[in-house]
Amino acid sequence: MSNTLNSLTATIEQYQKNIDQMTIQTQEDLEKFRINFLGSKGILKDLMSAIKDVPVEEKKQCGHICNEFKKFVEIYFEETKKRLNIAVISPKGHIPIDATLPVYDQNRGSHHPLSIVRRDIEHLFSKIGFIVVDGPEIEDDWHNFGSMNLPESHPARDMQDTFYLSHNPTYLLRTHTSSVQARVMESTKPPIRVICPGRVFRNETISARSHCFFHQVEGLYIDTAVSFADLKQTLYYFVTEIFQQNVQIRFRPSYFPFTEPSAEMDIQCLLCAGRGCTICKHTGWVEILGSGMVHPQVLENFKIDSNVYSGFAFGMGIERICQLKYRINDLRLYSQNDIRFLKQFTVK
Ligand code: DAH
Repeated sequence: MSNTLNSLTATIEQYQKNIDQMTIQTQEDLEKFRINFLGSKGILKDLMSAIKDVPVEEKKQCGHICNEFKKFVEIYFEETKKRLNIAVISPKGHIPIDATLPVYDQNRGSHHPLSIVRRDIEHLFSKIGFIVVDGPEIEDDWHNFGSMNLPESHPARDMQDTFYLSHNPTYLLRTHTSSVQARVMESTKPPIRVICPGRVFRNETISARSHCFFHQVEGLYIDTAVSFADLKQTLYYFVTEIFQQNVQIRFRPSYFPFTEPSAEMDIQCLLCAGRGCTICKHTGWVEILGSGMVHPQVLENFKIDSNVYSGFAFGMGIERICQLKYRINDLRLYSQNDIRFLKQFTVK
């Protein structure tokens, strides 16, 4: 073997070692590599032109070695380019991402149980023609109380410990979603068929059973000839669908200033099947909502003729439905953001 071929082979081997040890991390480094090896005055050009000094009988072998090295350099360049192009997507552009690595199971997020139940409720009522409506959490006295037949000094106001805004006490944090009923009646002509989910606030001590904020869904249906039978049937449909079973219901006469007659609806306790447990306070029944026929005065407050139109309304706490569905017995869990609680609701 001639000296020229020997030294050429050694040189190429050395280059190959160098390349093996390279860690190209940026486009600039890659460009330097390209100019150095593949550029018009680069290493490969020099090697190729060195072939002419090799004795004729070794030219073929020499050409083969150089060509193999050239292929190696080109492949290395293309692969590195691909790798860096993927890495450019990463924020700094310098961290190479190996897209061929296997995917690890990521920590998947979950829906909050209250969101799951709220969405289910919205879905069920949408199926029977109810529209989902939103309203403000900061309300004025009229929409939260006055228009709902709770004039100032009405004793029923005491039932709802209200947070008033300190700089302007005519505004308050809504104590119930009935305020959204008021806003809908104000802006829409019957027929009206809405449900209004949202957060409400009451000045109560935080414990397992009470909280200073919670969630309600209000329902309102106004049309000609709406009867109490419609209310019952709608709510019966709702409970059997939401709990996915045949649920026993009962109505107890009650009092709400905005409905007449009024009733509270109980369902047979799902946790003990009516036999009696701590959830149903050993009665076999749990109250899940308040309801009634919209008081004529409330209709008139919004210039809806109570001789022509009638309607029903209901209001329920989403936490209560959640409690029965998922056996969540402490209201504080909903807002503590404890990952051990939340991840139990991961969508599978
Ligand atoms: N607003 C009531 C509350 O927060 C719940 C309620 C009862 C809403 C009867 C209604 C209703 O629409 O008809 O306790």
